[in-house]
Amino acid sequence: MSRMLVTGGAGFIGSNFVHYILENTDHHVTVLDKLTYAGNRASLDGLDAARFSFVRGDITDASAVDALVAGTDIVVHYAAESHNDNSLDDPRPFLDTNIVGTYILLEAVRRHQKRFHHVSTDEVYGDLELDDPSRFTEQTPYNPSSPYSSTKAGSDLLVRAWVRSFGVQATISNCSNNYGPRQHVEKFIPRQITNVLTGERPKLYGDGLNVRDWIHAADHSAAVLTILERGHIGETYLIGADGEKNNREVMELILTALGQPTDAYDHVAERPGHDVRYAIDSTKLRTELGWMPQFSNFEVGIEATVQWYRDNEDWWQPQKAATEARYLSQAR
Ligand code: NAD
Ligand code: DAU
Repeated sequence: MSRMLVTGGAGFIGSNFVHYILENTDHHVTVLDKLTYAGNRASLDGLDAARFSFVRGDITDASAVDALVAGTDIVVHYAAESHNDNSLDDPRPFLDTNIVGTYILLEAVRRHQKRFHHVSTDEVYGDLELDDPSRFTEQTPYNPSSPYSSTKAGSDLLVRAWVRSFGVQATISNCSNNYGPRQHVEKFIPRQITNVLTGERPKLYGDGLNVRDWIHAADHSAAVLTILERGHIGETYLIGADGEKNNREVMELILTALGQPTDAYDHVAERPGHDVRYAIDSTKLRTELGWMPQFSNFEVGIEATVQWYRDNEDWWQPQKAATEARYLSQAR
């Protein structure tokens, strides 16, 4: 049994990880989360108080971080500003949280000699052409496109430097696009589901041919636990589930799951700098550490996700109007 400090545990992927850890291990979890617009305390409701605690705080607050890191065994770092569109509007919080926040955590784990896992994204590698047969591997050069992905790339490089220069016991994972329960309504899949549920037309950026490599959040959680248990210090592991689909295909699956015609959506303004295609080769994680994704049927996963949003309107409804107002101001 270990004590885990999970940063960003009230967000989408962090909360899925916390649920996963409490259901599948005997570890104790403390969440450190600032509860920005993207964090939702309700995502952690009902967890076993004997094994779970919640601290509202900022990862850029060095003294709060130091005290929490001192009292833990492992730090799993999910906290971030995570949305590309927001980073185009106002990059500053991305620099503060993703770069400075990661630096503060690295200094604390260095001081207290704690195991650190850094959760990152495939977007650090830039994008691939639609007709390029290759996929990202751990050897792909960094080439981020957006303010969001460049701050994630910067944070990855800080982790690598702290491993090499100071011997910090860290691993890094770079995962593709996640879907599943408790994702903020600003993101593609929940936005379209909740648009239909509130009588709005779904919105597709540009021609909708951009490809994302989808993975269920539970498979991401299992992969991170595998890396914590069997990963090698200083190594990077790519996480992906062979889930490439273009945005039109995903839109049509969502509309079908909601009983709507497959063309019942609008084309809206293109995202500036929109990455064309992401694709992950996760051979290293599968062959060296023995992880395999369990959610192989994307259509079934989308139906379950639609059902979750139908059943949990209280969770997402308070965010919906403000999110759409923000998109309206961007013509998206
Ligand atoms: P999210 O936006 O849903 O959640 C982020 C969480 O971090 C929120 O709870 C927020 O309150 C918290 N937070 C933000 N700033 C903070 C700060 N300064 N101090 C403390 N807490 C703070 O994000 P997500 O989609 O769950 O992504 C989580 C992590 O996974 C991020 O690091 C992201 O880069 C990475 N990632 C996401 C995806 C994806 O598809 N969503 C894929 C690969 C990697
Ligand atoms: O690849 C991993 C990344 O996936 C993570 O690092 C990010 O944190 C996460 O937000 C996600 O980034 P994307 O930009 O790919 O996700 P998003 O859900 O914003 O968009 C997915 C695709 O759908 C993208 O091509 C843009 C498009 N899109 C998005 C929205 C919100 C639309 O066509 N319409 C929309 O309304």
